[in-house]
Amino acid sequence: MRKALFLISVLAAGPAWAQEPDPANGQVLYSRHCSQCHGPDAKGNGPMAEILAIAPPDLTQLAAHNDGVFPTEAVARQIDGRAPILAHGGEMPVFGPFFGGDDIVVPLPSGQPMMTSLAIADLLAFLESIQTGGKP
Ligand code: HEC
Repeated sequence: MRKALFLISVLAAGPAWAQEPDPANGQVLYSRHCSQCHGPDAKGNGPMAEILAIAPPDLTQLAAHNDGVFPTEAVARQIDGRAPILAHGGEMPVFGPFFGGDDIVVPLPSGQPMMTSLAIADLLAFLESIQTGGKP
């Protein structure tokens, strides 16, 4: 449905990159696909956390662990499974096929553009909005 609406809006409104990531939708996606492990408040305490061999990290500290800068690209890679680490191939599911697509351009902290799917852009916007203690 979202995809269909998206395609219609592309046809009607022009290029995909005219779209803005939507943190509210990111939160919906987060509750549906991530909170069972990372926790409802993203602090790593979801109901599935205790049966995992590797504890799901606190996702509100991503910026804090990266010199105060939200690591957009690393997080996107982690979600879509392109990260070179064992990580998501191991304990965390690979969401690439599900959230896949290069529908939208997201600016990286470096200023470089990154192509990603709208779903991942929304998740990134949500995750960035819940960072605590990250700003110097
Ligand atoms: C089945 C449990 C599970 C689900 C569901 C899950 N994760 Fe994870 N996630 C993990 C585990 C475990 C790790 C850490 C271990 C690893 O690297 O594999 C992790 C690591 C991460 C990291 C890296 C954090 C860091 O400190 O580098 C990010 C970002 C992340 N997950 C985001 C998400 C998002 C966004 C979703 C939903 C789209 C999600 N995860 C769904 C278990 C899960």
